[in-house]
Amino acid sequence: MSKNTFRDGIFDGKVLFITGGRTGIGYDIAKNMMQLGANAVIVGRDAEGLAKSAANLEREAGNGKKCIAAAADVRDKNQVRAAVSKTLEAFGKIDFVVCAAAGNFLVPIDGLSENGFKTVIDIDLLGTYNTIKATLHPLRETQGAYIHISATLHYRGTPYQPHVSAAKAGIDALSNVLAVEEGPRGIRSNVIAPGPIGETEGMKRLGTKGYDPRSVIPLGRQGYKQEISDAAVFLFSDAGKYITGQTLVVDGGHRHLTHASLPYPMMVLEPEKVKAMFQGKL
Ligand code: COA
Repeated sequence: MSKNTFRDGIFDGKVLFITGGRTGIGYDIAKNMMQLGANAVIVGRDAEGLAKSAANLEREAGNGKKCIAAAADVRDKNQVRAAVSKTLEAFGKIDFVVCAAAGNFLVPIDGLSENGFKTVIDIDLLGTYNTIKATLHPLRETQGAYIHISATLHYRGTPYQPHVSAAKAGIDALSNVLAVEEGPRGIRSNVIAPGPIGETEGMKRLGTKGYDPRSVIPLGRQGYKQEISDAAVFLFSDAGKYITGQTLVVDGGHRHLTHASLPYPMMVLEPEKVKAMFQGKL
């Protein structure tokens, strides 16, 4: 799709640093950016899986662009710093940063332990902070740009998502501050908020069988990963040069549909579970 929308080579000579690039939306962003000319470094906890994904990305890009696997847990600032050093050693600079690493599971507040809450805050929010801190100075050199992968869950009270909602709200806020503080140095920071996207770890965890997207999404279907990565390409491209401190919601209009204004964990939960929740039995 991007091949028909964006010109080949628009990211030639550019370097992408992406957390959570091993799978899902992060992988697709890396692929899309590489196909358009960027070299990439993907960051994640699973060293073996990461190496496989890096090889697959080079193969799928099919244009000689390089992808390096830098194993790191985003919760550990020293590991993130080491991944940044590896990037600078290999490519000499960083132009684009995507914070896509995230963790999720469905749980009501009542069933969520302090450690469960902290775990998701640490991966999503602290991980984003660690990534920003480790990449900010290199990005000043290139006047680069950030994209943070957030969500739409926290626009309303989404049941079973207390930890993720809190984390994503924090990420949105962090991105706005970053845009204001670093704008004068030429750095941009934006958020992409995906709605329900098919074939992602998120939907595997949050979704359930048998829900009909036509009843809850104005465009009548779940999104494709490519539709998120195309949004990232747009924001990183020259077309996005005057856009900063923005959240781009890519959700097929889902958040506006008031008769079914249930964010996706709830809209896709089995009706029996929703009923149980309102009866205080979950
Ligand atoms: N319900 C309630 N609590 C849960 C849970 C669930 N389904 N899954 C994990 N937790 C709690 C654990 O019980 C533990 O708390 P405790 O010590 O009080 O028992 C805490 O969360 C940490 O769990 P642990 O499995 O040790 O964390 P981890 O660092 O290995 O894994 C997760 C992190 C839990 C977020 C894991 O799901 C993950 O790695 N996810 C990454 C991929 C992902 O979620 N992608 C989707 C993005 S939308």
